[in-house]
Amino acid sequence: PTPRSPRISVIGTGYLGATHAAAMAEMGFEVIGVDTDQRKVDALSKGIVPFYEPGLPELLLTHVTSGRLRFTTDIAEATAFADVHFVCVGTPQKSTSFAANLSYVEDATRQVAANLVRDGLIVGKSTVPVGTAARLREIVAESTPDFVTAELVWNPEFLREGKAVEDTLAPDRLVLGGASAAAEALLREVYAYPIGNGTPVIVVDLPTAELVKVSANAFLATKISFINAISEVCEAAGADVSQLADALGYDKRIGRQFLNAGLGFGGGCLPKDIRGLMHRSNELGAFAAAGLLQQVDEINMGQRQRVIDRAIDACGGSVLNRRIGVLGVAFKPHTDDVRDSPALNVAAALQLRGAQVVVYDPRARGTAERIFPTLGYADSVADAVSGADAVLVLTEWPEFLAADPAALGALVRTRTVIDGRNCLDSAAWAAEGWNVLSIGKAT
Ligand code: UGA
Repeated sequence: PTPRSPRISVIGTGYLGATHAAAMAEMGFEVIGVDTDQRKVDALSKGIVPFYEPGLPELLLTHVTSGRLRFTTDIAEATAFADVHFVCVGTPQKSTSFAANLSYVEDATRQVAANLVRDGLIVGKSTVPVGTAARLREIVAESTPDFVTAELVWNPEFLREGKAVEDTLAPDRLVLGGASAAAEALLREVYAYPIGNGTPVIVVDLPTAELVKVSANAFLATKISFINAISEVCEAAGADVSQLADALGYDKRIGRQFLNAGLGFGGGCLPKDIRGLMHRSNELGAFAAAGLLQQVDEINMGQRQRVIDRAIDACGGSVLNRRIGVLGVAFKPHTDDVRDSPALNVAAALQLRGAQVVVYDPRARGTAERIFPTLGYADSVADAVSGADAVLVLTEWPEFLAADPAALGALVRTRTVIDGRNCLDSAAWAAEGWNVLSIGKAT
């Protein structure tokens, strides 16, 4: 079929950009992806996704092979080719404060604008502190050649890792910020596929669009820290947090999702985004929001300590020279991402206290090993728990839920399992003689 117009460029090919580029090709557009990292561009050009994301390799290969999707390090190639330019570069937390590092998003926007050879629409997708897009508009105005007109709009992304393809092809909503009538019409063309399938479009101003994104993540983080705070009450009172969450979840105003108590949230987004919003709220004098988010962050980090303390208790007061089998180091299942992973954090902390930690993760071994090469790494659940004084389940991979407690019981030294994600069938494990320590439950 003939490709649809407009032609699209995607600047930045990480989790967000690579998925967005492949999804846009899937929707029928010709797409060029741009990244400064030559190795990433080489891999993607061969149809290889440099990280684990279910469904993405198939989509990428199909469209790279058909020629509808290609990658380059040359921004001028993208501006010569495309009319709509999505900015999908990262905004990591600064090393010196909770603020976001905006240098990548500023550079990418400046380069697109400076290289435009005809009128273009620049669409910001990166997660940014509120007020950034207005500053980027100034950069666009300063950098665009005199003979072209460029417009910058904001269109935040809400995809989840592990479900990135599905979330991009069928998002819950599309938010368009600061778009002129012409820009809105063009973006409705670009998103005709999800809109045709019923995805609602919310048209707002620039700061609202920027804030929707970080507020959504802040709310999800708050929900998790809420249930984790309540889990402490449950433990003290002898209640069961999982049953409590089920019962709460039936209230449609509350909902069951993001009420799983455990090790808390991690990853490249939630922790960084609540800290970024905390920082920005303080700058803006909105101290109530900043205070709330600080509590959310502290409760979340406290969960890691609770699990560490529980492991130390389980080993009789010290983990020195104890063998600990850790199941899961990814920040959540169905990803190989270990950025700010609570699981990896706990594993490393126990090793620091002298434990012999042996880790198994179905996907994240490579990414974890690059950061913590000195942890022990196993190739299977059985190898990780062999001879263990305690087993810790820290990421709820389906493989761990399906593990046979009887078979594993025969391999360990002590049948103690700390279920850091409240994901095991504790009755089945207890029936095989395991002492199961969960979060927010009487033990
Ligand atoms: C999150 C948001 O869910 C996406 O909507 C957003 O687009 C994305 O950040 C982003 O800003 O790019 P993601 O980081 O992929 O997506 O992960 P989530 O599925 O939200 O999980 C975050 C963390 O919360 C994980 O560590 C998970 O284990 C934890 N979690 C989740 C809980 O501890 N309890 C729950 O009930 C749910």
